[in-house]
Amino acid sequence: MRPEDVDAAERLTALAYGADRTDDRRRRWCDRIRHLLTTDPGGCWVADDGGDGAADAAGPGASGEAGSINGVAVALRRDLLWVLSTYAVHPDHQSRGIGTALLGAAIDYGAGCLRGLVTSRPDPQALRRYRRAGFTLHPTMRLTGVVDRASLPAVDGVRVGTAADLDLVDSVDRRVRGATHRPDHAFVMAHSTLLVCDLFTASGYAFLADWGVTRLAATNRAVAQRLLWAALARTAPGSPADVRNLTSDQEWAIDVGLAAGLRLDQDAYLALRHMRPPAPYVPSSAFG
Ligand SMILES: CC(C)(COP(=O)(O)OP(=O)(O)OC[C@H]1O[C@@H](n2cnc3c(N)ncnc32)[C@H](O)[C@@H]1OP(=O)(O)O)[C@@H](O)C(=O)NCCC(=O)NCCS
Repeated sequence: MRPEDVDAAERLTALAYGADRTDDRRRRWCDRIRHLLTTDPGGCWVADDGGDGAADAAGPGASGEAGSINGVAVALRRDLLWVLSTYAVHPDHQSRGIGTALLGAAIDYGAGCLRGLVTSRPDPQALRRYRRAGFTLHPTMRLTGVVDRASLPAVDGVRVGTAADLDLVDSVDRRVRGATHRPDHAFVMAHSTLLVCDLFTASGYAFLADWGVTRLAATNRAVAQRLLWAALARTAPGSPADVRNLTSDQEWAIDVGLAAGLRLDQDAYLALRHMRPPAPYVPSSAFG
């Protein structure tokens, strides 16, 4: 993938996901992929029809017109963890093997990584690809709705974090998921609010965007619950909150969400290779 492919990749993924992105979400999607092109150029792949109808996985620097792409896969490596961030083939070109070629290129980028993680959509073709690539599929749940303000408890020990707290974020990440998000800190800090809880016995952090909790990790469940309550308390009254990618390992989160009056639904799948679902942890859809 080259920087000039990003806009076409955005349109292609919106079409393949059936997503109706606002201008803001579209810009943010493109900014994220440009960020990953900088941190993980070898993990960013497009399928380019090459103008002759033949589908080739085209790597960085390969020839081809921007806009003629019919598939995209973006993977990142963080320490020894491989994460798939985006994966789609144009609906008119699916089921012809393009997705298999793209996923193969993205997985090859993870050579040497010990573990793999994908927050998968509930797409039968994607699930087929992930399982056949050796991933274990863990069904996930999602909490949505408007927080019942009357349910909010007083929460001590949680404050808004700054760049000075990113070492704490790294150490919690290493404990909980065996890998940091270090190269993504600047991008994530620019797009969300960091909450931290640093007690004598345990610590944790959460990232919040205007639509909900985008990531949360802690070294024990009590701190994770404190952070989630604090995050829900910060949602604008009357506007919906969203917490996704919750396997049954995250009952600490489900219990908080239900107590806060949120609705629990089936979400999708967390596809993992050589690891159990990290806990207590709310995985980021984009960064694992
Ligand atoms: C997932 C996706 C990228 C795969 O790309 P693709 O080019 O269709 O992939 P392939 O053709 O290599 O493989 C598709 C597989 O699904 C199978 N398949 C096709 N239609 C299917 C259906 N309705 N149900 C189940 N499997 C189906 C194909 O037989 C093929 O499997 P096989 O090669 O083992 O026989 C593409 O389908 C897609 O963009 N889906 C929508 C977006 C999405 O949800 N992406 C995943 C985000 S996590």
